[in-house]
Amino acid sequence: MDRFVIDGGYRLTGEITVGGAKNAALPVLAATLLSSEPYWIEGIPRVRDVLNMQKLLRFIGATITGDEVVTKHIDQSLAPYDLVKTMRAAVLVLGPLLARCGEAHVALPGGCAIGPRPVGMHLDGLKQMGAEIHVEHGMIHASAVRLKGAQIRFETTTVTGTENLMMAATLADGETILDGAACEPEVVDLAHFLMRCGAKISGAGSARICIQGVDQLNGTSHGIIPDRIEAATFLIAAAITQGDVVVCRVQPESLANVIDALRLAGLEITVQSDAIHLRAVRPLQTIRVSTAPYPGFPTDVQPQITALMSLANGMTTVHETIFENRFSHVPELIRMGAEIAIDGNCLDITGVPRLSAAHVMASDLRAGVALVLAGLAAEGETCISRIYHVDRGYERLEEKLGMIGAHIRRLKAL
Ligand code: EPU
Repeated sequence: MDRFVIDGGYRLTGEITVGGAKNAALPVLAATLLSSEPYWIEGIPRVRDVLNMQKLLRFIGATITGDEVVTKHIDQSLAPYDLVKTMRAAVLVLGPLLARCGEAHVALPGGCAIGPRPVGMHLDGLKQMGAEIHVEHGMIHASAVRLKGAQIRFETTTVTGTENLMMAATLADGETILDGAACEPEVVDLAHFLMRCGAKISGAGSARICIQGVDQLNGTSHGIIPDRIEAATFLIAAAITQGDVVVCRVQPESLANVIDALRLAGLEITVQSDAIHLRAVRPLQTIRVSTAPYPGFPTDVQPQITALMSLANGMTTVHETIFENRFSHVPELIRMGAEIAIDGNCLDITGVPRLSAAHVMASDLRAGVALVLAGLAAEGETCISRIYHVDRGYERLEEKLGMIGAHIRRLKAL
């Protein structure tokens, strides 16, 4: 297994460019199953989750060449456990397969490092659209001659649940209304993609999405939006090293909450149309962070802000409201000298003047990148193992950070 070795303490300066959003690319790729026509998708990040989604699409019957994806025939409407267990977003093929071929067999995702990750709301929604669903031997079996429009209310916000039902509803008979829908920019990007394919969707980006079913969709071309979580990670990399960095190719409006938090922490931030300039000009101040569905502070940035706040001047509280067990970075940060107490779903962080390098282990994607950030600031040489977690969502991370002055290298597994 590859490891990162980071020689900490170097200030990051210069320009760094963000890639396409993993969490937008995954549903868009799944949505290409909705028709037999070709799609051209630009800006797909070459990260492990996306490569796994492409592997799943090929297994189902897709041909993928460069930016082009075409699934003339569905060979098998099946997502096997081997693929679902490495990439939970595989459940996103459920809606498209069911809508296109009237049946789908998708392994039930189990728990993972950040919590139980249930999909009950995906299944309830499809049932309300007339699907017959039963779960047996760890597989979801779904069938419907043709899905019917329905009025569906999500009891809590679910991003992939909203995406799955929106995709399924594009080919349903009649109108589907999704109430309590997720408003994330990735949901909006998927809606834009589907509308280019001929889907009739209104309200994406609000809590009520209306989808008027059509008989078929067409192929199209599409560019994936920039990754706001990668952008936030780079901003925090700059902040934690007392740096001066311009993060390029971003949609600043999608980062409003992160920018506000960083400004409150004392960072100087200048927002341009598609870039954000961060300068660390004073000692880090403490803030209060509470994660929330978009447009709130993203849970996918909670581990990174925790790493940053471990160096702030005073006491910070971080409240995780989305996932019940997203604190696996905390014991590792403590190994690096951080003072953090876990109290239920809250963290009480007492800032320390410096972190010290240590051998630590990544246990999930964002926890792993939080350790990279801590390593950039720590005194000495930090070694992070199990970085395959980080590779699930960051493309060439060590190269990109290296270009702005980080001393980070990958040690390949022997
Ligand atoms: N939930 C249920 N029932 C359901 C579905 C969700 O109770 O049927 C609960 C979950 O347990 C969780 C909350 O609802 O407590 C939110 O989960 P959600 O369904 O929104 O998460 P997701 O769609 O599985 C996506 C992202 C995650 C991101 C979350 C929250 C993708 C592929 N994944 O997951 O991204 O953390 O939304 O914003 O879009 C990451 O990139 O590191 C990552 C984990």
